[in-house]
Amino acid sequence: MVVPIIIYGSPILRKQSYSVSKSDNFQQLGQDLFDTVKKSGGIGLAAPQAGILKRAFVIDTSPFSEDDQTVQSYERFFINPEIVCKSTTNCSFEEGCLSIPGIYEKVLRPEKIAVRYFDVNFELVEEEMDGIKARIFQHEFDHLEGILFIDKINPLKRKLLARKLYQIVNS
Ligand code: CO
Repeated sequence: MVVPIIIYGSPILRKQSYSVSKSDNFQQLGQDLFDTVKKSGGIGLAAPQAGILKRAFVIDTSPFSEDDQTVQSYERFFINPEIVCKSTTNCSFEEGCLSIPGIYEKVLRPEKIAVRYFDVNFELVEEEMDGIKARIFQHEFDHLEGILFIDKINPLKRKLLARKLYQIVNS
């Protein structure tokens, strides 16, 4: 089911999310997140953006593979994700967020990460990521902590965005 996306300005996006337990209806949550991210043409969506303060998100790189057939599409649902290790080398990449429409800025993040999460069958998975996967994983993980990508851009750039952000909050 496609669900409404919570937009910047809502206090929900600033809250810490709670762990998912086995008794939660997490399969439905995963389905709703996939339906919603596909409908909106995004590449990732975290549960708090759907108004659910649970530690879960989806990555769906299929919009990239449509542009470039050599890119394999990667679709995954992550439950109770953790970042266990980060590379010391950082890289910069332009990010956007379905909750902050119309704003795209370069963000510096570790290039590679090692992660641990539960998959859709609630099996523990350990994985190393780089490239676009690592990028999206870190962006979505931040949502579970109430952190947004605009928190990570330089203060001057953020000042320049203030008006646009104000417009989003008050639209
Ligand atoms: Co986002």
